[in-house]
Amino acid sequence: MSKVFQATASAPVNIACIKYWGKRDTKLILPTNSSLSVTLSQDHLRSTTTSRADPSFAEDTLWLNGKLDEIKPGGRLATCISEMKRLRKELEDANPNAEKFSHWRVHICSHNNFPTAAGLASSASGFAALVYSLAKLYQLPASPKELSLIARQGSGSACRSLLGGFVAWREGAAADGSDSFAEQIASEADWPAMHALVCVVSDDKKDTSSTAGMQRTVETSALFSQRLTVVPERMRAITKAIQNRDFDTFAAITMKDSNQFHAVALDTDPPIFYMNDVSRAIITVVTEYNRVALEKCGKRKAAYTFDAGPNAVIYAPRENMKEIIELIVSYFPQESFNDPFQLFKSAAVQGRRMDG
Ligand code: DP6
Repeated sequence: MSKVFQATASAPVNIACIKYWGKRDTKLILPTNSSLSVTLSQDHLRSTTTSRADPSFAEDTLWLNGKLDEIKPGGRLATCISEMKRLRKELEDANPNAEKFSHWRVHICSHNNFPTAAGLASSASGFAALVYSLAKLYQLPASPKELSLIARQGSGSACRSLLGGFVAWREGAAADGSDSFAEQIASEADWPAMHALVCVVSDDKKDTSSTAGMQRTVETSALFSQRLTVVPERMRAITKAIQNRDFDTFAAITMKDSNQFHAVALDTDPPIFYMNDVSRAIITVVTEYNRVALEKCGKRKAAYTFDAGPNAVIYAPRENMKEIIELIVSYFPQESFNDPFQLFKSAAVQGRRMDG
């Protein structure tokens, strides 16, 4: 019987505190600014991908959540797959004993355990799991940082899902993208109290994709260039806050950056509205909660952030979470949401934690 070449890997969702929004190179997916995110525990929101290489396969094929998906020649999926095959070929060329299967076609099967394209970062976990499963299939010695260079070409935010804990994606300066990768700035263990509450406001597919929306912002928003001048200082300050476990500063920056991202989306022509009335009401509740906390003890107790959709993610130290959930549930009856609230812990996911 011939040998089976197959591997499975999972990757979790990450939620940005400093948002990536804008590309300077749309083909290589090079961002206009650095960004920073927290990788959530893969116990709850994850993509799981199985890749298999076989000499009998006629073409590379992908199934996403059980449905056949197109692999457009020259598109993002094709780029990631061919980059991984190239690395396998390099390994085969360097090692005469290595089995030669880099030229075989692959079948890839990917599954999300949460709604796809609802602003819950499915492309991030999806491309990270795809690249990671191919790295296992091809037995590549590549580090998460090296793999992040390839996942980035699938979807920018995917590069951050290859690492756990608190992750920065450096915008880089090289025209070939070789210095635009993700790196961990602190592990989950460095700040175990940090938790994330995902409030699923809607699991409908979003109207304007991140890819189309951010390009339109770059082309039409006058506020966008102003945003680029403030991000570098925010990156420095939030990194320091994370390393010092300074939640008050972390929260202030996270909320400011979410607000600014939605402001440039609104300043885009035609305007883009990702948040809805429920999202804005969540902002009001968190703001009031923090106002009381600031009055009492001079520090914020929660931070909201919204990606390209209406769903809220609330970061808070674990000790505040019970209070926050009770508060949110008291203001928003469950029928405001399609799903019950879910509490997800941020977690380290590197190395063996990504298997499975
Ligand atoms: C608002 O990574 O989905 O979630 O690179 O075009 O695939 P592409 O975009 P994508 O954009 C994510 C935007 C964001 C902010 C963030 O995750 O940093």
